[in-house]
Amino acid sequence: MKINFVNLKREFNLLEQKLIKDFLEVGNTGQYVNGKNLYEFERKIAKFLGVKYCIGVSSWTDGAILIFKAFSLKKSDEVITPSNSFLASCGAIVAAGATPVLADVDETYNLSYENAINLISNKTKVIMPVHLYGTPCEDIFKLKSLCRKRKIILIEDAAQSIGARIKRKMTGAIGDVGIFSLHPLKNLGIYGDGGIVSTNNKNVYEKLLLLRNHGLKNRDTATCWGYNARLSDLNAKFASTKLNYLNNWNKKHRNIAKYYNDNLDQSIIKPKINPNSESVFHNYIIRVKKRDRLKKYLFKNGIETSIHYPIPIHKQKPFINMNKIKLKNVEKFSKEILSLPIYHTLKKKEINYVVRKINLFMKKNRND
Ligand SMILES: Cc1ncc(COP(=O)(O)O)c(C=O)c1O
Repeated sequence: MKINFVNLKREFNLLEQKLIKDFLEVGNTGQYVNGKNLYEFERKIAKFLGVKYCIGVSSWTDGAILIFKAFSLKKSDEVITPSNSFLASCGAIVAAGATPVLADVDETYNLSYENAINLISNKTKVIMPVHLYGTPCEDIFKLKSLCRKRKIILIEDAAQSIGARIKRKMTGAIGDVGIFSLHPLKNLGIYGDGGIVSTNNKNVYEKLLLLRNHGLKNRDTATCWGYNARLSDLNAKFASTKLNYLNNWNKKHRNIAKYYNDNLDQSIIKPKINPNSESVFHNYIIRVKKRDRLKKYLFKNGIETSIHYPIPIHKQKPFINMNKIKLKNVEKFSKEILSLPIYHTLKKKEINYVVRKINLFMKKNRND
């Protein structure tokens, strides 16, 4: 059996006819940027998330850069964010001209609240937790009250967590701003790059509308300098169609995760999800000491796995050039974590096969 880590083609084939219809519909409007399909999607996703405003952007990264610009962050302003994330979380801070301060994570793999508090200084302008692997950052409400007290902006990196909830609130709808990715690999993925910024703050919303479109308030009149960071109408339409399926697909992810939890060898460390949270399992992470051997063994048996992330951000060259730090948990976990295949088109027999092969390996290598 051959099991890919991702299989986007299966999902495409499932939706092919609907996507062709979308293409024809958008094509026939004659409006491909800043058109009605973009605004319709923005209203629909805002309703889904339970926020007042959503702005479609060209990627999570562009959305984050624009948000940091909207809050006028400068070099002396610090943004606290966890080192266990995709490089972009930190890269966007640097690209916007601010200073990243990387924090450790706890056993949930998300931002450690204790470590974040210790890193706060009078330069801290933003805290940006990441709902990594589609699992809500457990301390998001504690962070919210901390930020309110200390007048710090709370931005949620919800790139991986669309549809995930904590205490019935959607991730990305809790802080001052949420930022989502529509990259093809995400749970709501499009056919190219894209992102969404969510907020209840009208000023932020209006500023973002300008920034993503050259600072123009209408076709000819500029209010400020801006960028070109728009989400195309065609991709907004595709995202809108796929949004109709998202809850169901996320539920399938949770079912696969439950199957892994219940059936994988007991010695394996499984994801720790707070009972108040509903993860969307963008990734399913296990932790084992003999990770590299297990990964090789699975590959030989036709099972592709991945590592999110093998090099913590604070160990990446561009960050080391700025600052050398040590973060105990992130460093330890990066050597032990392994991401298993999880997607809504994964078949029962494939999931079973993954479990069987992992358990066999664990049994054979019990005493190593
Ligand atoms: C946690 C996290 N933040 C940010 C990003 C960047 O998203 P984009 O590729 O849409 O810029 C990603 C994408 O992988 C991500 O996983």
